[in-house]
Amino acid sequence: MPRKVSLHDLQRKRDKGQPITMLTAYDYPAAKLVDEAGVDAILVGDTLAMTVLGHRDTVSVTVDDMLHHCKAVARGAARALLVGDMPFMSYQVSRREAVRNAGRYMKEAHMDAVKLEGGSEVAETVRAIVAAGVPVMGHVGLTPQTATKLGGYKVQATSAEAALKLCDDALALQDAGCFAVVLEAVPAPVAQAVTEKLTIPTIGIGAGAGCAGQVLVFHDVLGLFDDFVPKFVKQFAQLREPMLQALEAFRCEVESGEFPGDAHSYAMDASELRRFLQADKS
Ligand code: KIV
Repeated sequence: MPRKVSLHDLQRKRDKGQPITMLTAYDYPAAKLVDEAGVDAILVGDTLAMTVLGHRDTVSVTVDDMLHHCKAVARGAARALLVGDMPFMSYQVSRREAVRNAGRYMKEAHMDAVKLEGGSEVAETVRAIVAAGVPVMGHVGLTPQTATKLGGYKVQATSAEAALKLCDDALALQDAGCFAVVLEAVPAPVAQAVTEKLTIPTIGIGAGAGCAGQVLVFHDVLGLFDDFVPKFVKQFAQLREPMLQALEAFRCEVESGEFPGDAHSYAMDASELRRFLQADKS
């Protein structure tokens, strides 16, 4: 059994200047692959809503949807640190409800930590969840759950005022007890400044090379999701096309009678077959 990556391991990497790696995964086979690739942390992101469940945004995914997928990921990952995303309205209504929902990620779905979106406005909620014993990862910059309020899916903290507010938000999350903060879609120099101000790791997505770590979405890295491809996505493979070709090849071979051939069929002992055919006739 490989040794699990811990929160301390992430902090140690950040302190030594070693980049931290995180990818999303939403099911058992993807978790196995990401774990085997040696990635430090797996995020069961609420991007699940779009990449796997076919929703137009992340807002409609529920805690129960998330936990269902977190459980599958936990079965597939032996080594990576597991972070479960708390969906929209699962931590905003009251601190009590936030703590109860966060606890479900650990008790029912075997996550090591949760992630939630927002800056100083969620700091007291973060404090309450951390005090209850659930490690929390923050998320500022482009926060997709409130993208409408932010004016859409676009780069954040582009003015000096907004960049200063981002720094304050990240510091408030650190002060509230977050063990790391995701910085999404912010200019690289701003992300670097935040990274230098914080003592906990920053994990960037569309935030340049100055962060302590990087996260991307599983389907983006493998080129499986082409509804839209943000500027910050690098497709390390284009697997949609070969997958489509394989599925078409299956259909063609079944339709032409080529599949299944002898190599994929079970034979029967000749004398048993004779006895069967005779008995079947009588
Ligand atoms: O839900 C998600 O996948 C995320 C990452 C994009 C950081 O929050």
